[in-house]
Order: sequence, then C-alpha cells, then structure tokens
Amino acid sequence: MLKFVSALACALAALSPTSALAQTYPARPITIVVGFAAGGPTDAIVRVLGERMKASLGQPIVVENVAGAAGSVAIGRVVRSAPDGYTLSIGHWSTHVVNGAIYRLPYDLAQDLEPIALLPSNPMIIVSKNAVPAVDLKQFIEWMKSKGEGVTAGTAGAGSGTHISGVYFQRAVGAPVHFVPYRGTGPALADLIAGQIDMIVDQASNALPHVRSGTIRAYAVTAKTRMPSAPDIPTVDEAGLPGLHMSVWYGLWGPKGMPKEIVARISAAAMEALADPAVRQRFVDLGLEIPPREQQTPQAFAVYHKAEIDKWWPIIKAANIKVD
Ligand code: MLT
Repeated sequence: MLKFVSALACALAALSPTSALAQTYPARPITIVVGFAAGGPTDAIVRVLGERMKASLGQPIVVENVAGAAGSVAIGRVVRSAPDGYTLSIGHWSTHVVNGAIYRLPYDLAQDLEPIALLPSNPMIIVSKNAVPAVDLKQFIEWMKSKGEGVTAGTAGAGSGTHISGVYFQRAVGAPVHFVPYRGTGPALADLIAGQIDMIVDQASNALPHVRSGTIRAYAVTAKTRMPSAPDIPTVDEAGLPGLHMSVWYGLWGPKGMPKEIVARISAAAMEALADPAVRQRFVDLGLEIPPREQQTPQAFAVYHKAEIDKWWPIIKAANIKVD
C-alpha cells in the first residue's frame, strides 16, 4: 500500500505544472536584467557569460539594461517577474548587498531572490585622466591635495561599487572629492577618457583595456597581490595606501519561488561557462578572479550571499554613506 501511495505521489508530482515547466525549460529566450548602462563591467561580464550559456541552454540570452538607483530598479523588475526562469538578475556586492543598507528598497535582498551562481570577482583600480601630472599613487594623492576645490570622481550612482570604493579611498587620502553619478561606469569611463572628470576607483575589468591602450592612467589595484594580467600595476600596499583592499564579487539570481530543477539547469549552464577555457581566459585577461567550482553552486552561493549581508550591512550603516 505504502509503495502504491508513494508511486502515485511521484506520478502526480510529474504532472504538476512546475514539473511540466521544468521539463520544457528553456523554450524561449532568457532575459538577464543588468542594473547599469551598456558598456560597463556588469554588462560586459553578462555578455561573455551569456554567449556561452546559450550553447548549453539552447536559447539566446537577452541582456536588458535597466539603470537607476545603483542597480536597485533592475532588481525590483526581476523580483516582480514570474519565477519561471525567463527573467534573471545579474549584479554584484554593491547591488545585491550594499544597496539594502543604504536604500529603502521595496523588496528584501535576502528573502525575495533565488541565488543561482556565484560569478567572478573584480578588484578595483585607481585611475585618472591622462592630463593629471602624476606618475604614481603618491604623486596622484599630492595632486589631489593641491586641488583646494576638490577633484571629480565618476561613479555608477550613489551607493554603487565605484561610489562606495571612492568614499573609502577619499577617507584614506583625506582630500575633497566630488562624486559625479552616471548610469553606469561605462559612460563614466568615456568621460574620464575625454578628460571631463578627474578619476574613478573603477572595477578592474572596466578600466584595464583603456589603461593598456594608454587613454587613462592606473596607480594601484585594491588587492593584496598584483593582477596576473596587469603585473605592472602595483597593489595599494606597495603604492602607499596599505590595507585598502576592495573587491566586487558578481552573482546570478532569479525571483524567489523558481522550481529547483530550473535553478539547477541555469546554474549548470553558468558553471559550464565558467569552466570553459576560452571564457576563463577572457575573464582573466580582464583582471577578474573566478571562484572555485564548489563556491559557484546555488547552495554555496546562498550561504555566501547571506553571510555578506550579515557582514556588510552594519559596516555600511556605520560608515554613514549618503545616497543623496
Ligand atoms: C557597472 O556595471 O556600471 C558597474 O557595475 C557599476 C558599479 O557598481 O560601479
């Protein structure tokens, strides 16, 4: 009898709408919502990843850029969407952790999202326009201090990774900085190259190609060790700001309530992409660090995301970073 009941339960489960959805998934293109303008680091990472995920999933990945409130508007769009695996959220430490400590969000970052995969992380690099007369970080800080009225630093909006890192940098240096918000660090970087702003504490993957081509200047990387792909850029410890270590990890989420099978399917596609030698090489060239495989899984990522919220919210709240 018991066997019959359990066989019946399995048969019914197999017929449930959730299971039917999972069996045919994905039957159409998948949208990944980016919280910043096209051309920035989040956009670049999802495009490399999405191209490879398409090969595993058999459906194109459509990137939708919904800028506003340092990525918060984009997350709201995903939280409110159907939990069917067709609308996903890519973001990072600032969008999916920090924003909860400084914005009044109409959703709960810890409760309303389904973690799918931990993605690579990015150290920051301190970069300036070429017109700044400095060849190293010490000279750059002297130049900043000599500008009585303060220097201008581009950010991807109040509370974004570039803003929070810029605030920590400013506090370490002790010179006035005026933060100039953009819809993402893609457009901020274009203005830095054009000499419209003075500096950015930017994600390495965004700035490195332009440092290499000589259109902007790099002074230090906010990591304990130099980047293998840019070994000539000193660490902050070497350059004169010891301990100013900052890095932005990326992740992929869906709305809460997605069928477990669909989470597993997307996660497997993301992990396959991160294991692909061509994808790895592109990420490493951009200065990104790929997390070990066991940390990429939905289960490990859920634990990590929660731990990061618990760790950073008190620190960010105490740092009293204003968003207006
Ligand atoms: C972007 O994609 O523009 C960045 O991730 C923004 C940031 O956090 O600084």
